[in-house]
Formats: sequence, structure tokens, C-alpha cells
Amino acid sequence: MAFLSFPKGFQWGAATASYQIEGAAREDGKGLSIWDVFCQQPGRVQNGDTGDVACDHYHRFRDDVALMKRLGLSTYRFSVSWPRVLPFGFGEPNERGIDFYSRLIDELLGAGIEPCLTLYHWDLPQALQDLGGWPERSTAQRFADYAELLYRRFGDRVTRWITHNEPIVTSMMGYRAGVLAPGIRDLRLAGRAIHHLLLSHGLAVAAFRASGVKGEIGITNANTSYEPADATEESRQACELARDFDTRTWHGPVYGRGYPESVLRYYEKNDGALPIERDDLRVIAAPTDFLGVNLYSRRQVVLDRARGVGFRSAPPKLPLLPMGYEAAPFALGDFLRFVSAEYGKPVIYVTENGVCDNTAPANGAVADVERTELLRGFIAGMHAAIADGAADVRAYYVWSLLDNFEWAFGYSKRFGIVWTDFETQQRIPKQSAVFFSEVAEKNGLEA
Ligand code: FCB
Repeated sequence: MAFLSFPKGFQWGAATASYQIEGAAREDGKGLSIWDVFCQQPGRVQNGDTGDVACDHYHRFRDDVALMKRLGLSTYRFSVSWPRVLPFGFGEPNERGIDFYSRLIDELLGAGIEPCLTLYHWDLPQALQDLGGWPERSTAQRFADYAELLYRRFGDRVTRWITHNEPIVTSMMGYRAGVLAPGIRDLRLAGRAIHHLLLSHGLAVAAFRASGVKGEIGITNANTSYEPADATEESRQACELARDFDTRTWHGPVYGRGYPESVLRYYEKNDGALPIERDDLRVIAAPTDFLGVNLYSRRQVVLDRARGVGFRSAPPKLPLLPMGYEAAPFALGDFLRFVSAEYGKPVIYVTENGVCDNTAPANGAVADVERTELLRGFIAGMHAAIADGAADVRAYYVWSLLDNFEWAFGYSKRFGIVWTDFETQQRIPKQSAVFFSEVAEKNGLEA
């Protein structure tokens, strides 16, 4: 064991998302989101759970900010519910919704916690889905207009902005696999969603620069650290293909490299050519200030020519976590090295990393040992990547502050460093919260 110190000024924070914690789904003039509607459809969400109440954060945000302060967090990543501020996605803003975020931001600043605002963490206004949603090009401009509204209202106090959270999940799980809202299964629509999500990012970055707001803006992608399952040339190729479909599709256009050829070809062959218009790639490549990295695991892959994408996952070799993915704490350092080498070592914020561990309270305490030890490993791997000079990481946000509504899994999967009792809304900081708050305090850890 050695003590690993982080660079001075490194920030430790926690992340959440509007639909997963706020509740108040139909209060104060909020419009419906695709998640409000999806949760009402039988069989979509485990146990029929909904985000109607969730962690009731909408009413308890002051206590939650006080809790963050006690834990010693220096930054907090949250998302704004688009239909809470624009019930139909565009038009007249809902001042009561804007007011909620304004009070939250003031509360954070008062507690010495830097707000990090995500514009889109999956809760599209249902009214925009009714007009076609992300497969429809006009949604990209609506998004930029919504972003512009928030820059105007909050740009005096918020200095860290994220356009999208994990657009791969919006497009592939929402429009291709149909397991997340809006629950559509259509390859052509998914391809259109990919391109319009990226286009909306580029338009929102341009609107940010034009707004004159001081601060930084970036995008957060979902990532897996891909590995060839064995030492063969075929598996190496499979790994590159997996990176094309899962990593380069989302980072390439943002960093001015366009889409990977393999991905363009795949959609063309399947009658779903990406709807790229003149100038789009230039818009998407608008320079950003940082890259948001979400990472939970690694995946080993092998070639599979029978599949359209040309690769498939190999059987897992490590113990599985309740979410079904491998417990692979080294994956964070590995991915940070890969993405930094690939895109010229951008400033990185790890905007999500965490562990599902459902350990329940016993005698008023939650001994979530597995989460704590895996977090230690993830953070140690990140430390090594920084110390080697391989990656320029400046902040780490644990997912999540609270146990919350885990999308299609409902409340069955717990990611919080703080236990949420969904009956009483009591919060109990877990062992991992004690660990994390020590890491924040010492700006380092024993590992
Ligand atoms: C990420 C999501 C986040 C949460 C974690 C576990 O993909 O961004 O909302 O569901 O996974």
C-alpha cells in the first residue's frame, strides 16, 4: 500500500440525473418527458417502477446539498429536465421550473460546490418525441435553442456545461434496442438519431460561444474499455471494430475526424445511411473545452463475420456485478490512456464511474465493501494514468450521490454512495461515502 496523491486542485464530486432523482414529475408546470410516458407502459420498467417520486430531490435539494457539503465534495454534476423548463420542448419557458434549478445552483454555490450542468440526460420532452424525436433533424435546433435559454438564465453562475450524457445510449437503447425510452426498435431511426444528437451537440457549442458566457463546455460519452479476447490478429481487428462502433462514432466527429468508415458502411448497407448534410461535420467539430468520460467496465471481443458489425463479446472472465458487467477496476485507467492517445490528450473530467452494489443497511450502517474496494481500484488506475503523463484528468465524479431510479431496472439496482430509503426518503451515507469523503479531503488515497 502506498499513498497516491492527486495534483493540486483536482476535484472530487458526485453525479446524478434529473429523472433519476427529482420526482415531482407533474409539479409546477413541468411537461411530460419520454420517461414519464415510457414508465406508464406495462412491461417497460422492472417492477412497474417510475420516477414519479424517485429521491424526492425536488423537495429535498437543500438537505442533499448539505449532505454533499458534509462529504466534502467540491463539485456536483446534475442534469436539467428539458420539459421542466420548456414543457413542450420549445416556446414559453416555465418559470417555476427554471426557478428550481436557479435555487439549486445558488444552494450549491453557497456551500462552496461548483455546479456542473448536463443539458440532456435522456428526458426528452414527449411533445418533441411526438414530432419525431432525435431521428428528426429539427430536434437538433430545438436542443440548441433550449441550451441557449439555459446559458442566458444560468450562465452567470454555472461555468461547467455538458451538452449530452451518453448519446450512444439515447440512440442505441432508445431507438435501436428499444429497452430505454422512447422504446423504439428501428435501425434506420437509430442511425438518424446518432447524427442528430451529434449535430445538436455542435449547435449547442456554437450557441455557447455566441452567448458570451464564461466557462467551459464539453460532451460526455459512455465508454467501455475494449480488449481483444486473445492474442490473435482476428481478435485485435474485433477490438478495433468495437472501438469504431462504440468509441470513435462519438469521439471522431467531435474531434474533427468524422465517422469511422466501418460505421458509415454498416448503416448504408442496412438502408439507414446517416443523414449527413453539407457542413454538418464542421458544426459537430466545434472545439470543446474538455471531454467527459463515463466508464464502468471493460469488454473482451472476438471477430464474428456473421454479425453485421463484425464482432461480438467474448464470454466474461472476471466476476460479474449485479448489472451483468465484469468487475474490472483497471478499465478506467486503461480507457483514459486509450482515449487520451487517440485524441491528443484532451482535458478530461471523469463524469461518471461507480459500482452497483445492493448491500442493505444492517444496524443503521451500510458496509458496501465491494463498491468501496472497486472504487479504490478505479481511482488508483486513474491516478497512474495521470502520474505517467498519459492522461490529463482534472476531476472525478462518482456515480452516484444517491441510490436512485436506475432506468429500466427501476429501483432494483443501487449505485449510490448514500443509501436512499425509498419509503421514508431517509439518506444513510454508506461505507463508500466515508471512503470517498476521505479521498476528497486528502486529495488522494491508500492503494
Ligand atoms: C450510465 C448513466 C447513468 C446511470 C449509470 C449507472 O450509463 O449515464 O444515468 O444509469 O449508467
